[in-house]
Amino acid sequence: MRIKFTNLYKLIPEKKNIFFKINSLIKKSQFVGGKEVKKFEKSFSNYVGAKYCVSLGNGTDALEIAVNSLNLKKGSEVILPVNTWISTAEAVLSNNLKIVFCDVNLDDYSICLKDLKKKINKKTRLVMPVHLYGNPTNIPEIKKLIKNKNIKIIEDCAQAHGARIKRKHVGTFGDIGTFSFFPGKNLGAFGDGGALVTNSSKIYNLSLRLRNHGAKLKYDHKFSGRNSRLDTLQAAVLNVKLKSYKEVIKKRAKLAKLYNKNLSNIKNIKLFKLVKKNTSSFHQFVIRVNIDKRDKLKKYLQKNNIETMIHYPYMLNELNFFPNTKNLKKSKSLGKKIISLPISEEHSFKEINYVTKKIQEFFKNSQK
Ligand SMILES: Cc1ncc(COP(=O)(O)O)c(C=O)c1O
Repeated sequence: MRIKFTNLYKLIPEKKNIFFKINSLIKKSQFVGGKEVKKFEKSFSNYVGAKYCVSLGNGTDALEIAVNSLNLKKGSEVILPVNTWISTAEAVLSNNLKIVFCDVNLDDYSICLKDLKKKINKKTRLVMPVHLYGNPTNIPEIKKLIKNKNIKIIEDCAQAHGARIKRKHVGTFGDIGTFSFFPGKNLGAFGDGGALVTNSSKIYNLSLRLRNHGAKLKYDHKFSGRNSRLDTLQAAVLNVKLKSYKEVIKKRAKLAKLYNKNLSNIKNIKLFKLVKKNTSSFHQFVIRVNIDKRDKLKKYLQKNNIETMIHYPYMLNELNFFPNTKNLKKSKSLGKKIISLPISEEHSFKEINYVTKKIQEFFKNSQK
């Protein structure tokens, strides 16, 4: 059996419908803006339960524009977890703000609330929790920590479409939620794409201008902005995919349950410990093993035709152009202990059983 990490072609639902839509948009030469984009913004804000959605060029721009829309004073401190994709930190630097890295908790890999509490000070103006791997961060608790402190929250939901805290979608607790529709994401386009959601009409209106040269209407520039629009073809693809997205989340949850069942008796493996009432989007299924075992396990799975990945092989404080924050005990060397196993709505139960069988085999052999 050969198990790919993801098979993007297989993941396309309603292929005929999507190709028909793309064809008709090409015939109409409708490439930027228009009905499909407006429809997606409306459907996505409905799905998430936010008042407004601004579709954008990609998830990195969504973060940058979100931070920009808050108009924070130059040099203000922004706290973010150290285990995230580089974009979360880039958005801080590109807005001339100061990065403060925070440790992660090892149950679900979200920001460590204990460390966060220590790092909040008078200069803190923004916290950027990341719902990494699709696991919801405890934002209600973060809101308690920053109460009456004039500190904003931007939730990085790039991996968390459909993730919920109780019944409420992530990205709607803080001031802004940002999303990525990169092809490999649970809700992925046929190229780059992103969005921000908010309940604030002020942030919404400013973000509309920030994404389009400072203008809402043609030639109505109020300041110098940028070009970061979700193009029409991507919006059309996302409109089709969003319709059946609930099924995607359900299938991923079932596969995650199977992983948990099959791996829970291997004492060398640490699994996610998630809050039962919450919903993870299971963008990644990540396990943690001892440093001396991780690369060997990866190789063993590879030898058995099972693709795995590492998200991420480094913590951001280990990159030499970011602050070299010390004393982040839990995330120290984390990039050498974690391994992401294949999970997607196109994977079968049989495939997941095969993966876990090979993992069990590996640990049995390594005890000999
Ligand atoms: C946590 C996180 N934030 C931000 C991004 C950036 O999204 P994009 O690749 O669409 O720019 C990603 C994408 O990988 C991500 O995983």
